[in-house]
Amino acid sequence: MAYKLGLIGHPIGHSLSPWIHQQFLDLAELDGEYKLYKGDHEALPGVLKHLKEIGIDGFNVTVPYKQVIVDYLDEIDKDAEILRAVNTVVNIDGKWKGYSTDGEGYVRSLKEPYPNLLNSETSVLLLGAGGAARGIYRALMGQGVDTIDLANRSQDKAKDLMSLRLGEVKSNVLSYQQAEEQLAKYDLIVQTTSVGMKPYIDDQVIQLDHISKDAVVSDIVYQPITTQLLHDASERGANIHHGHAMLLYQGQLAFEKWTENNLDVAHLVDKLENKLRGE
Ligand code: ATR
Repeated sequence: MAYKLGLIGHPIGHSLSPWIHQQFLDLAELDGEYKLYKGDHEALPGVLKHLKEIGIDGFNVTVPYKQVIVDYLDEIDKDAEILRAVNTVVNIDGKWKGYSTDGEGYVRSLKEPYPNLLNSETSVLLLGAGGAARGIYRALMGQGVDTIDLANRSQDKAKDLMSLRLGEVKSNVLSYQQAEEQLAKYDLIVQTTSVGMKPYIDDQVIQLDHISKDAVVSDIVYQPITTQLLHDASERGANIHHGHAMLLYQGQLAFEKWTENNLDVAHLVDKLENKLRGE
């Protein structure tokens, strides 16, 4: 059979997902296509009706539909319900089930180069408290880390995020200044805000003067590929983790749900980087 896959969102003209999923289809030796289904809010019901009619096997959901899609689902995975966001829909015998793969995709992308980083002694600093931070916070907790401190410009939003807390994890809400002062204690620093994204490439959400050389600094911004924050971390001798790897691995997880193929995609990280650089 030929898989029918795709993406809804607005705008999505520059999405890398068709390219990524074509790589996965080729790797799995499967027939299929991943199409962009464009449409603004008004067009959304019609687009979804069309996807039902063609019997789409699965699709991704991006901004601004990650929440409204819930009204069109037959079922929702528990984590996606808690996160109040769906980015992957799977057609199971004609019924649509929604998942959130961002957080787990992030963790997979991190474990590939740093397999021993996340354990019961790991201290994490999460920068930002928006949609991306929610999924990552929850998924990192699932790894049984010791601490995940939250720093955000709006401290109220960071406090809201604490409601997602599970297990034994310790969490404190910090200002960016407090985070900078106690930076040396973190093993992993995850940047989830849009600060540093093109065209504002000189911006950096916190200064890294007190960073430990053993720390990993991870930035989910992937345009530019090496943000100012990652550049600074490298200069100070710390380890870095790029945002485009997350993009690839959240796709890998979606593809696994649609096709039951668990692909090794590590070799595609560099290929995606070249694609982003326009090579
Ligand atoms: P996403 O879904 O991509 O995470 P979002 O939900 O709008 O997007 O969240 C954006 C995040 O980037 C928030 O943490 C936001 O901080 P506030 O909650 O204080 O608004 C952060 N952010 C965006 N622009 C910022 C800036 N110029 N300085 C600091 N933080 C910024």
